[in-house]
Amino acid sequence: MQRDRSLTWRRVDATDLDLTGFQVAIVGGTGGIGRALSRFLASRGARVIVVGQTFRDAEIPGIQFIKADLSLMHESQRAADLLRAETLDLVVFTTGIFAAPQRQETSEGIERDMAVSYLNRLVILRRIAPKLGTGRSAPRIKPRVFVMGYPGTGQIGTLADLNSESSYGAMRAHMNTVAGNETLVLDAAKRYANATFFGLNPGLIKTNIRDNLFGKNSLKSRVTEMLIGLLTPTADTYVRRIAPLLVSPDIEQRSGALFNRRGEAILPSPGLTDEYVQKFMSASEKLVAKADVSLTTR
Ligand SMILES: NC(=O)c1ccc[n+]([C@@H]2O[C@H](COP(=O)([O-])OP(=O)(O)OC[C@H]3O[C@@H](n4cnc5c(N)ncnc54)[C@H](OP(=O)(O)O)[C@@H]3O)[C@@H](O)[C@H]2O)c1
Repeated sequence: MQRDRSLTWRRVDATDLDLTGFQVAIVGGTGGIGRALSRFLASRGARVIVVGQTFRDAEIPGIQFIKADLSLMHESQRAADLLRAETLDLVVFTTGIFAAPQRQETSEGIERDMAVSYLNRLVILRRIAPKLGTGRSAPRIKPRVFVMGYPGTGQIGTLADLNSESSYGAMRAHMNTVAGNETLVLDAAKRYANATFFGLNPGLIKTNIRDNLFGKNSLKSRVTEMLIGLLTPTADTYVRRIAPLLVSPDIEQRSGALFNRRGEAILPSPGLTDEYVQKFMSASEKLVAKADVSLTTR
């Protein structure tokens, strides 16, 4: 990962943030990093809507829940339309899994990791982006979208086989989602001028994301997460580092920027040229079309 030294932003203490009146949606905000973020932003006064399968924060003031199985594109479309995009200041995508050792496919014919970690974001983003923040009365910033993934690491995916039909490997399938999420940011920054789009790379953090790869509560899973927990920051620490970035005025003119685990700007992956991004988007749209879901609102 290479730093982008042309972009810096002024750090403030996360506990000094006053987010009263801020309307936030965290897609994947029911668990892991997304959950830590939703709880923190709510503690600073934001109103937060989380999308996921299991709501764990009913007792926290300021957090509301939309239940959806985002492995399905038609569910993602429904969730997008429930988000009330006009009201939103900030959207963060954190939904994800890790590809399983054997290929899994959703009832819509899509490789499961692609569906959960990337394509639902494409559906939601495309449906909400044109309307984002248009109904706000006194906005402090342009509406912002942050896409969490693993950007800047040189992954470009296997363009000819995004659905892992020709051959399958857990890492290969997951790298399609990594490339997809970086591509999503680079494409959206060019596609929409009414909002700004950014990528977040949290680095390694102890969560449940590797359950699908190692098996939930398996010895391998517990040992791996214990080691990650010993060696890396917690989700709460990461969230306190990046929360000020999410609302910083200093990145307003830098749609398309990507940030590492410390919130420092990083350069995009060299292989993700404009031409490649366009091709990747077309291939992604074709895959979503399998589910007969529209990427635009009529
Ligand atoms: N943790 C790391 O080491 C790491 C490293 C690099 C990048 N990242 C990225 O960081 C982001 C967050 O990861 P995390 O570690 O916080 O993962 P996590 O703890 O596994 O949380 C994933 C979230 O996705 C939701 N989710 C999973 N399957 C879903 C489905 N079918 N429908 C709806 N929601 C679903 C979960 O909600 P429910 O529990 O309600 O199902 C949960 O809110 C991901 O984009 C990941 O790629 C993480």
